[in-house]
Amino acid sequence: MIKPPNWRPPTLTTERLTLRAFTEDDAQPLFEHARNPNVARFTLWDAHRTVADTMLFLRDYAVLRYLEGMPEPYAITVPPDPHPIGACGCFWAAKLHQTMELGYWIAEPFWGKGYVVEACRAVLDHVFAEHEPERVQARVIDGNTASERVLTKLGFRHEGVLRHALLRRGNFEDVRMYSVLRDEWPNNCDKKLT
Ligand SMILES: CC(C)(COP(=O)(O)OP(=O)(O)OC[C@H]1O[C@@H](n2cnc3c(N)ncnc32)[C@H](O)[C@@H]1OP(=O)(O)O)[C@@H](O)C(=O)NCCC(=O)NCCS
Repeated sequence: MIKPPNWRPPTLTTERLTLRAFTEDDAQPLFEHARNPNVARFTLWDAHRTVADTMLFLRDYAVLRYLEGMPEPYAITVPPDPHPIGACGCFWAAKLHQTMELGYWIAEPFWGKGYVVEACRAVLDHVFAEHEPERVQARVIDGNTASERVLTKLGFRHEGVLRHALLRRGNFEDVRMYSVLRDEWPNNCDKKLT
């Protein structure tokens, strides 16, 4: 169902983070992180070349998802700093089959602090409570071991490898498929691992 143009997903808070909807004011600070090729090494999107690329993400992609009522993309912030340091969220991969997909990235200076696990836990709590996924899946390009660790820590199960399932930047990439089912959340999520 289409939401009113001003609808935004609810702000979520965790011990260290605030997850909120993006606004156009985020363009410049987000660009400073999204321009980093190390961040985009394993993402479907390319490193942003100019702030106009970031504005396109905020105006076209984010606004469209909010119109669909999706909790995606969330700006990850570390209070009291209001600026985004990354993004995460869930959207329908196949609504008919009640399958959502989780996506996330965080800026390089913030890697290794467990922020993405913390953020995704809040997003998953929210989607299992407020939406109706039976399954939340995540796709990881082969070689992105840090991302696989995030999913393992969240309690996702590795399902297999989709060989050469992605043509990206001129190369066929293997994609690792992960998922968590409604019944498994959050019981198989080992909180001690963070
Ligand atoms: C992958 C990513 C989301 C991990 O987020 P994170 O908040 O750093 O995750 P964690 O702190 O839980 O660390 C996860 C693993 O990353 C590895 N890691 C930590 N610091 C690292 C660093 N500076 N460089 C590379 N890997 C690092 C560790 O092996 C860690 O595993 P551990 O728990 O066994 O120590 C983040 O690195 C990122 O945004 N990368 C770029 C975008 C991307 O790949 N997104 C995912 C697409 S599927």
